[in-house]
Amino acid sequence: MRKGERNIFLGIALTIIALMFFNGVRQQQASTQDRTLPFYTTSTDQQNRQAMNVYRHYDCKSCHALWTVKDIMRTVPAPALDGIGSLRTRDWLYKYMTATKPQEILPSRLKAEFRMPSYATMPEEDMKTLVDYLASLKAQDWYLNDLRRSECRKLTGDSCDQFKVPAGKR
Ligand code: HEC
Repeated sequence: MRKGERNIFLGIALTIIALMFFNGVRQQQASTQDRTLPFYTTSTDQQNRQAMNVYRHYDCKSCHALWTVKDIMRTVPAPALDGIGSLRTRDWLYKYMTATKPQEILPSRLKAEFRMPSYATMPEEDMKTLVDYLASLKAQDWYLNDLRRSECRKLTGDSCDQFKVPAGKR
């Protein structure tokens, strides 16, 4: 083997070793992050069950995703409700859910039939159960920026790059 060839060979080998090393580091970082799921609720099991009954009864899942449950036929680009209690206060949620015109609080970019309907006529008890539950849906701090970005994308249809997290800064 000539000297030039040996250097090229050595260069390639070193590159491969370096790539394997960085890949290993990346995987290790990913697995420490995966140990905590991004979403949790502060509700008890019983509150959870009651609220999910209301949620099903009013068919929120025909437009929204929650706990990765969504209708296969769901085509409305409504924001997911996971972690919504980290983005909105209970007061805000109550006002929004009981508004006769929710779009006066949160403007919509969608056609009328896909917009958030008014639940102003929902019985107070169901409303309280539901709003308490929504407020209890939290996201881990390290996921907040991603959550804001995906909410912003759904609400505006923009790329919402202001919420982009630089790589390695999570
Ligand atoms: C017809 C589809 C549809 C149904 C049914 C529906 N929503 Fe919505 N919802 C939307 C859309 C779309 C938005 C975003 C605002 C808009 O475009 O009107 C929204 C917004 C919201 C928001 C505010 C989200 C944010 O990012 O701040 C909450 C909270 C919410 N909905 C909860 C519910 C709950 C709870 C139910 C069931 C009782 C429900 N929605 C039923 C379509 C729907």
